[in-house]
Amino acid sequence: MQHFRSVHDVLDLPALLEKALTYKRLPRHHHGLGVGKTLGLVFLNPSTRTRISSQIAARNLGMEVVVFNADKDGWSLEFGEDVVMNGTSVEHIREAAPVLGAYFDVLALRSFPALVRKQEDESEYILEQFVRYSGVPVISLESATLHPLQSFTDVLTIKELFAEKRRPRIALTWAPHIKALPHCVANSFAQWVNTWGEADLIIAQPKDYELDEKYTAGATITNDQDEALEGADFVYVKNWSATQPYGTVQCSDANWMLTLDKLQATNQAKIMHCLPVRRNLELSAEVLDSGSSIVVQQAANRVWAAQAVLASLLYRRV
Ligand code: CP
Repeated sequence: MQHFRSVHDVLDLPALLEKALTYKRLPRHHHGLGVGKTLGLVFLNPSTRTRISSQIAARNLGMEVVVFNADKDGWSLEFGEDVVMNGTSVEHIREAAPVLGAYFDVLALRSFPALVRKQEDESEYILEQFVRYSGVPVISLESATLHPLQSFTDVLTIKELFAEKRRPRIALTWAPHIKALPHCVANSFAQWVNTWGEADLIIAQPKDYELDEKYTAGATITNDQDEALEGADFVYVKNWSATQPYGTVQCSDANWMLTLDKLQATNQAKIMHCLPVRRNLELSAEVLDSGSSIVVQQAANRVWAAQAVLASLLYRRV
């Protein structure tokens, strides 16, 4: 693996899943692998789980880690080509990225979408310029369109918990929120589950919230949440903003929030969410506090997914 931006950068997904499960059993199995290497975690947006799990993962491999909150502590960056920098930006990515690449053996970046112009977000111009100019392997810690470390963890968690000799049925359901959130987690989850190919995925969302087919191809799409929940083994709950018009809030129907009553239709489904979650808005407290919720176990698995990715970049394999 050269970089980790989406599932398409993974050469052998089953092997990467096995690697992560090995690290869960034996966290310091490859402790020598990262000795003498430094990981730079660069944040343009907030994070709790991704930030901490990546640090633990790197240390399990023997790496040094530097966390740089570039949004608060760094010079404001310019990404435009051929611009006259007479505005608020102080430093161009053409200098900033190679400087960071000179300091670090692996660079990781969190950079959310602006949710203003779809084409601009889809271009991944921030992440891709770090890739282009840093000269070192780059890991996405969530970019404008995808959250691959989260989705790798999600598939890992499903694989770990589903013991039956059949394909699990997974429902990804939209949930209400007061803010316009990125599509990254939902896009990425669909992309990883479909690439994994060992589960049946159904996605439920209100009208005007349909995700791009380039991520969802292979999944069943519906506007009926009850249809998605019927017989589901796993229910992944997540809000994302409308796609028509892009990046807006068009639905605030509280009936989309998952309750214990709705879970009756499932196959005793386990409930997933990437976190952070707003209780009793996006997901009911009664579900989060029930035995059906696996959100904490899911978040804990972030370490093993990050460790497998880091090890693969250090090895340049799978
Ligand atoms: N799920 C997730 O990425 O959490 P953080 O935003 O806290 O990193």
